[in-house]
Amino acid sequence: MSEPVNVVELEAQYLLQNYARHPIVIARGDGPYMWDVNGKRYLDFIAGIGVNALGQNHPRIVAAIQDQAARLIHTSNLFYNEYQGPLAKRIAETSGLARTFFTNSGTESIEGALKMMKAHGHAISLEKFEIVSLENSFHGRSLGALSITGQPKYRKDFEPLLPGARFVLSNDIAALEAAVTERTAGICIEWIQGEGGVNPVDHAFLRRARELADKFDALLCFDEIQCGVGRTGKYYGYQLVDPPIMPDIMTAAKPIACGVPLGIIAANERAAQAIRPGMHGSTFGGNALAARVALEFFDVLDGLLPHIGSVGGYFKSRLQELARRFDFIGEVRGYGLMLGVELKIPGKEITARAMQNGLLMNCTHDTVLRFLPPYIINDQHVDEAIEILTRVMASV
Ligand SMILES: Cc1ncc(COP(=O)(O)O)c(C=O)c1O
Repeated sequence: MSEPVNVVELEAQYLLQNYARHPIVIARGDGPYMWDVNGKRYLDFIAGIGVNALGQNHPRIVAAIQDQAARLIHTSNLFYNEYQGPLAKRIAETSGLARTFFTNSGTESIEGALKMMKAHGHAISLEKFEIVSLENSFHGRSLGALSITGQPKYRKDFEPLLPGARFVLSNDIAALEAAVTERTAGICIEWIQGEGGVNPVDHAFLRRARELADKFDALLCFDEIQCGVGRTGKYYGYQLVDPPIMPDIMTAAKPIACGVPLGIIAANERAAQAIRPGMHGSTFGGNALAARVALEFFDVLDGLLPHIGSVGGYFKSRLQELARRFDFIGEVRGYGLMLGVELKIPGKEITARAMQNGLLMNCTHDTVLRFLPPYIINDQHVDEAIEILTRVMASV
């Protein structure tokens, strides 16, 4: 018998040392549960950072992957496949945005959206290249995405980045009015900041961003990579706003193919015409496997949206109960199954102890417990998570 492989040691020796992983090696999953290599069970309330929308091992996703893998995985975008067209149609019907470009990740979606905004500005004037985004936002790790990410800790080692990025504080309408000018090519808003601590932006601010984009002929982009595609109980987060505010561009990714890498840029005709043949592309983006799985996911999601709203409401009310019980808890924020709990103490210890007690979750921005569970959880799963959290919180 060969020695068991110690993946932790191998990673320490052979991987770039950029991740601070939790000391758990996950071996398999079923629904909202996962098991580590030692057979310990965890309730998964972070879902691969908002990716595993239907949990693990969902029969329809498994069947779609198995069937498609046996037929055709990838052809490149030199050829058509059977799924990109129907999937783009579903995205247009659900989002109100006419055209889609397929990518492989959130960052790539932002990168393409940036090119769309820049090309739009370029076609009007060489001086129209500025992008306005929010302080405390997170848009990804590529140089373009970092340029508009409003957190210096992510940018500082790589500066100078793209010229023309301007940051404004969320909800500071006067600052937004000062930042958006004739030089603005696009306004890019992560309107429910995820990594930044689950902070929704006020609807009045979004509405003013829409007006300013129209006034100065800039494109308005909503980054829905974390909050989009069902997470809030709506297809897309901006549909929570009444009356809805339409962006010109929307980026989404995480849950859209349930763990098979896929991202999208959805755009109205005005934004889409900025990209002409040859100006953008991807080898893998929208390959047959990813697009087929996403189509399957949309079919399941249609029936799941009301459930996301109701189980999310129940979860939020149970978190608010915790907030009444423990005085180190501040605000409970978020929509649907994207919820954050602001603490008055660091959250790292609570997260670590919750994991030891069988609940996978995440702490972001040092003091915000972030929950992005799979959409298939029910009230009993919520009760189980609250029971673990109560025990952990009573012990800190
Ligand atoms: C709002 C937002 N934008 C962009 C990204 C980057 O996406 P990815 O990690 O898939 O490249 C993330 C990832 O957390 C995100 O939450």
